[in-house]
Amino acid sequence: MLLLLLLSTGVLPLAGQFLLPPSVFSAAVIRGEETSPTSRPYMAYVQIGSTGSCGGFLIQEDVVLTAAHCNCNLDKMFVYLGVKDFIEPAHNWQRIQVRRWVQHPDFNNENFDNDIMLLKLLKGAELNDWVATIRLPEANQAISPGTACSTAGWGRTGANTNTDRLQEAEQEVVSDSLCKERFQYYNSTTMLCAGNPHVNKSASQGDSGGPLVCDGVVQGIVSSGTLDGSPPSIYTRISNFIPWITETLQKLS
Ligand SMILES: *[C@@H]1O[C@H](CO)[C@@H](O)[C@H](O)[C@H]1NC(C)=O
Ligand SMILES: *[C@@H]1O[C@H](CO)[C@@H](O)[C@H](O)[C@H]1NC(C)=O
Repeated sequence: MLLLLLLSTGVLPLAGQFLLPPSVFSAAVIRGEETSPTSRPYMAYVQIGSTGSCGGFLIQEDVVLTAAHCNCNLDKMFVYLGVKDFIEPAHNWQRIQVRRWVQHPDFNNENFDNDIMLLKLLKGAELNDWVATIRLPEANQAISPGTACSTAGWGRTGANTNTDRLQEAEQEVVSDSLCKERFQYYNSTTMLCAGNPHVNKSASQGDSGGPLVCDGVVQGIVSSGTLDGSPPSIYTRISNFIPWITETLQKLS
């Protein structure tokens, strides 16, 4: 269960931070709401070795996108699809091993620039009511402040509260300047700023790698934020990475 990398201004991320004890990782969206069973069929729970996890989302039946910082060089990763909660195994779960992972070559683990990673699965998922792909944006598609979006994850639901249930929260796109003020490393070409500071909801530890969905299209990947989880937080700006995604998919096919 990994983390949204918790960076406060000027503080660099700690490599291997997601190797903290599992209790720290099973988290969700702070003060979000529980999802209905089939409302987010693209959600993937990415299990990293035996101690870590992240969110992710299905973009092809055998491809999941997540954050580059969710890699920890362990040999085995699995994705769980069709999961709403981890309370009891359900018939709609699909657990598939990751065959190859490709981190963005320019991922910077000090400032989390280019925080995107593609996971090629050992076999294609079976698509049904619980498991489905989500649409990517057009290359360089602009997204204006004020756009209503939402995120979801199994991350923390409060400062010290974990959950096994998928949670979701609205996240409005806000201006780049709000993130620039707050995070010295914010780069508006590769990052997207979302989460209205006046609304008490945000992505949190354990949500890393999860999607920011706007109008049925995935525009962002949960990447980093503040230690206390207060909005706004930083998402990878997916529209900037469409050429890289296309090229990588071709190489992997
Ligand atoms: C922001 O990212 C772009 C694309 O990777 C890069 O060309 C640019 O130099 C970066 N800007 C800063 C201030 O680092
Ligand atoms: C957010 O909610 C928490 C818990 O309900 C509260 O302690 C905190 O003061 C709130 N923050 C804001 C900015 O409203």
